[in-house]
Amino acid sequence: MKNLTLIDHPFVKRDLSILRNRRTPNNQFRAVLRRTAALMAYEVTKDIPLKKIVVETPLEKTTGYEIGTPVVLVPILRAGLGLVGGFVEIIPDARVGHIGLYRNEETLEPVDYYFKVPRNLARALVIVLDPMLATGGSGVAAISFLKKKGARTIRFVSLVAAPEGVRAIAKSNPDVRIYTCALDRALNKNGYILPGLGDAGDRLFGTE
Ligand code: PRP
Ligand code: URA
Repeated sequence: MKNLTLIDHPFVKRDLSILRNRRTPNNQFRAVLRRTAALMAYEVTKDIPLKKIVVETPLEKTTGYEIGTPVVLVPILRAGLGLVGGFVEIIPDARVGHIGLYRNEETLEPVDYYFKVPRNLARALVIVLDPMLATGGSGVAAISFLKKKGARTIRFVSLVAAPEGVRAIAKSNPDVRIYTCALDRALNKNGYILPGLGDAGDRLFGTE
């Protein structure tokens, strides 16, 4: 899968195992998801352009760097909110948009209820955050909204992805690189990822 980058780090593997475990309570799920997001942020922004600056140390001038591209984070509500804190730790000046989508439980089609994104998306690196990429319906809808708003460089970050979702994004948006910590086996008949981690929003917010 050409459009997919697997984030393959021992700490990520350890954290994902905690998140998959059905016995992990909500408070730990939330904390570990945040920590994993920070590790992911590191990988997803590895090639972000830098701008050279002059820095004065207490002793002399030297070359330093600033981040050369504005970053816009866009969590897909609700579960994407669980990734924002970790990303903001690494990219504190990122602006944050929100896209509200939920899946109709019968058709699995995304239903939209909220959109609010910063201006000037065209110059930004836009990073869509959603822990679960299942059928890809929500991801494709979010990307198409962001493109209509002018976004040109979009990355899609998921914790766990199903092959169906990766294919759906690749087919409709071959320019969008997907980052995930695990490419899981399949979807069940209700559209849940196997082995997955269950309903990410419910586990994050304790609504199960
Ligand atoms: C989950 C998840 C994704 C979507 C993935 O959200 O957070 O947004 O499902 O599924 P898809 O790839 O098949 O579209 P959900 O619909 O459960 O909404 P919630 O986060 O508000 O609970
Ligand atoms: N949404 C979730 O929260 N989990 C899945 O496995 C699929 C979609």
